Amino acid sequence: MGKAQIGVYGLGTMGSALALNIAGHGFRVAVTNRETEWVDDFLNESGELSDNFVGTKTLDAFVAALDVPRVILFMIPSGAPMDAMIDAVAPMLTAGDTIIDGGNADFHDTRRRAAMLAEQDLHFVGMGVSGGEAGARRGPSMMVGGSDHSWTQLRPVLEAIAARYEGAPCVAHLGPDGAGHFVKTVHNGIEYADMQAIAEIYGLERYGAARSPAEIGEMFERWNAGRLRSYLIEITGKILSYTDPVTGHPMVDVIKDAAGQKGTGRWTVVEAVKMGQAASTIEAAVGARSWSSEKATRLKSQDILGGARGAVHCDEETLAEAFLAVRILCHAQGFRILEAASRDYDWELDHARIAEIWRAGCIIRSALLDDISEAFQEGAPEGELILAPAFAAMLAQCVPALRQVVGQAVHAGHAVPVLASALSFYDSMRQGYGTANIIQAQRDFFGHHGFERLGEDGKHHGPWWD
Ligand code: 6PG
Repeated sequence: MGKAQIGVYGLGTMGSALALNIAGHGFRVAVTNRETEWVDDFLNESGELSDNFVGTKTLDAFVAALDVPRVILFMIPSGAPMDAMIDAVAPMLTAGDTIIDGGNADFHDTRRRAAMLAEQDLHFVGMGVSGGEAGARRGPSMMVGGSDHSWTQLRPVLEAIAARYEGAPCVAHLGPDGAGHFVKTVHNGIEYADMQAIAEIYGLERYGAARSPAEIGEMFERWNAGRLRSYLIEITGKILSYTDPVTGHPMVDVIKDAAGQKGTGRWTVVEAVKMGQAASTIEAAVGARSWSSEKATRLKSQDILGGARGAVHCDEETLAEAFLAVRILCHAQGFRILEAASRDYDWELDHARIAEIWRAGCIIRSALLDDISEAFQEGAPEGELILAPAFAAMLAQCVPALRQVVGQAVHAGHAVPVLASALSFYDSMRQGYGTANIIQAQRDFFGHHGFERLGEDGKHHGPWWD
């Protein structure tokens, strides 16, 4: 038997699915796992694909099973476990080998690891993989950061296993070191905002218009047949149609309203702030999850503050237009962060390409991403999606609906953090002269910080110092 073209270390949900996907495309794959008994279970369950696998139970045997230069994909928890595996495997590798981290890693770690391994002529790829288990098995979207050498090694495998949009594989080499993981982080940030916006629309319909989960699910199904088509709208429509087999209630009504989060949304916000950006819609979504998890406090507050929510009367088309406006604005913020990072880290990220590989396979795949890739191909000014003519026109059409929805929500006491922050972003960006003159005056008044005068260079102080 020949050697394996790639090794997959880590046979959890995502690792197994990717290994099966790779083997299913005719590649020979060496597999192993920290708990070695998983290897036999995996091979036993791999059916007719088992001939394409080399099961190994020690790191030595795993490395020895690979073609040189080697390619090893780690699908393990991010953070310390990845560092431990690098320490263990790097001494067994030779110049030109590539280690891939396919987890949701912090891109700073990826940059550090890439620089460290480069000293040994080893290559480190940070690869964002989106699409959950089904995507990993049948076609994920993959965001690759690393050297050209690694991309040449990986490209045939990744292009074979990726999701396809009109035949084109949803995988790209986006830049060096941390670029792939950074883009995946922002993908997840947009994912958070889109999910929260859907939840807010659900809340308005459920508690402001007294519609049943099933009726709201049908609305999302209708939306999914049009310009709002997306994976997240599709699955929400399906979710809302389910009944709890135990109680007979709508399934969503028996799920605790406390959202989990593993960190990528938070990282997006932190990195945006560090670069002097504001990903307000993503921040609102992260914050909403945090507040949601404070269930006990909210229950107590409801008793003290009152939890009444009034009626909201928005027709379906108005809600749909409002949602489209929010979706555009969330993506616009995501791409602004990508632009800032591209400048700071010299990555030369290609926004059009990123939008292209998000059109299939990943969690945020949507009809809108096709329009976004087109807008960036046509050169949306300085990466500013909201200024691309097609998007400026769409926003002009949809923002009035967003105003109506946010206005009603606010009056009736419904929390709509993502909808409202999207609108404030839009309104802030369209003001050529805003209100920060007051901030500057305050800073100068209390701290002698100085300000610029309109049309004049240099630092000035107000008459309050005379
Ligand atoms: C994806 C998802 C995936 C995972 C998130 C969930 O693109 O396939 O983003 O990576 O579902 O990490 O993150 P939270 O647990 O933070 O919601």
